[in-house]
Amino acid sequence: MKFSKFIDSFEEGVFANLTNKKIDLEKKGKKIYDLFVGTPDFKPEESFLDAIKNNVNSENTKYSLRDLDILIDRFIKHYKERFDVNLTKDMVMTVNGTQEGMCHVGMLFADPNDYCLLPDPGYVAFSACAKFARCNVITYPLLEENDFMPRLDLLGEEVLKKIKFVIISYPSNPTGGVITKERYKEIILLAKKYDFIIINDNAYSDIIFDDNESFSFLSLDGAKEVGCEFYSLSKSYNTTGARISFFLGNPKVVKRFKVLRSQYDFGMFYPLQYGAIEALNVDKSVIEEQRLKYEERRDFLYNGLNSIGWKVNKSKGTMFMFLRIPDKYSGSLEFANDLLEKTGVLVTPGIVFGKLGDRYVRIALVKPKEVLEEVIRVIDKSNILKE
Ligand SMILES: Cc1ncc(COP(=O)(O)O)c(C=O)c1O
Repeated sequence: MKFSKFIDSFEEGVFANLTNKKIDLEKKGKKIYDLFVGTPDFKPEESFLDAIKNNVNSENTKYSLRDLDILIDRFIKHYKERFDVNLTKDMVMTVNGTQEGMCHVGMLFADPNDYCLLPDPGYVAFSACAKFARCNVITYPLLEENDFMPRLDLLGEEVLKKIKFVIISYPSNPTGGVITKERYKEIILLAKKYDFIIINDNAYSDIIFDDNESFSFLSLDGAKEVGCEFYSLSKSYNTTGARISFFLGNPKVVKRFKVLRSQYDFGMFYPLQYGAIEALNVDKSVIEEQRLKYEERRDFLYNGLNSIGWKVNKSKGTMFMFLRIPDKYSGSLEFANDLLEKTGVLVTPGIVFGKLGDRYVRIALVKPKEVLEEVIRVIDKSNILKE
């Protein structure tokens, strides 16, 4: 059988290897602490589930050829209340999850062999976006010494002139970093000057800690002229499997995306659209309570790991912590494997997010404090941090 170079360019390796090892260890009776994937352990609201159940009928099982007006209206209200962003209907559409949207959106701006700009390290669907668009990737570094914030101004004219689009996402998976409005405004000015599009991924806007402020990039002056944003319900509302996300911003871009999407999809299943309305109707206090739980876990792990001698940095947002691995390891894969074998703690090697992630592993804060307490204890007992 002959397969395309395209499909062979996707690596399954890291995930498959660690998952197989996890299954082997489990069979041998080892207790596993799975902090690998960013699926919240919190539950969606009953009102969300009820709305889906109550709307499953033969009429709603037909192709959902359009987004429901009541959903788009509800979403527009949400963005006004939550982020003070004014949207009109032609600026919003649904996608079946940001991951799906991300994999296709690059095709709107880049032809094969054009250039795009992605963060290193960054969420894996960002590099998939470039691959689907068959375009070349230039990366911008997110470095701990710069608080994991981008400095696109340092990339030079040659790079900024040739890129068609840049992907930006804060609070950032995997680094846990945030961006200031001032830094973002500088990027918008660069986008105007050099004529590139900004795709902002706002997945973790409701999981932000301390006195850091989350915002929509579309609330900044000039943003709607140069870009669009994804807003997923997955993490804020614990609906990961439902695949509900929105794409919003510049109407010309949204219009083109609707054309592209109509080629491969007939829209979001209607019962999910009704579910999305109810998710957005959830009282703000529910979201705040959840944010506080993540913050509590972050503090607990940060204090615990530092107390056993693992000097880690403090995430400013997201459901992740990005931990620097001990110097004695050659890279994140070696460390993640050793950690799994010796402690049963399964984390994501930073290399999957890009070359600059290789001195880190990502821990997802998806287990209650009691489990995190055990995690700290087994790591301490294993001596893995010692020379
Ligand atoms: C930065 C970022 N964007 C988007 C997603 C996924 O969003 P969705 O569930 O809507 O595909 C994730 C999930 O890990 C993510 O980390």
